[in-house]
Amino acid sequence: MTILVLNGPNLNRLGKRQPEIYGSETLQDVETRIRAAAGEEEIVFFQSNHEGELIEQVHRAADERWPVIINPGGFTHTSVALRDALAEVADGAGFVEVHLSNVHAREAFRQHSYLSPIARGVIAGLGSYGYVAALGYFLAH
Ligand code: DQA
Repeated sequence: MTILVLNGPNLNRLGKRQPEIYGSETLQDVETRIRAAAGEEEIVFFQSNHEGELIEQVHRAADERWPVIINPGGFTHTSVALRDALAEVADGAGFVEVHLSNVHAREAFRQHSYLSPIARGVIAGLGSYGYVAALGYFLAH
């Protein structure tokens, strides 16, 4: 199985960006952790600060019928377009929404997600383990 792991805006800044909220791991550390947990499974790892580039990767996953693990960053709370793209994946292999921080314990605007209603599941507040948990879900199904 191939699994697409998508990270949205500002997640390339992990390790430098608000470490009191997001921790000291870099995105490279997160990728290494996911790959170690994936064993022989193929992981396609992609980060972008651009909505359209993320959407194009989601289209690729829909065409290939790949499950998606996505941390949409700030687009979680703003992007109808990303949700529309992910709706196709939701009808197929499915996606899990991951947040490093517990968005429910933060500002009110972070407590609404355009994506959660169509996600298989949502993991928030477990740091990079959230990606590993989402991976475990897809490997078990
Ligand atoms: C985030 C939470 C979002 O609210 C925020 O905009 C991010 C990161 C997280 O991983 O906790 O960029 O998705």
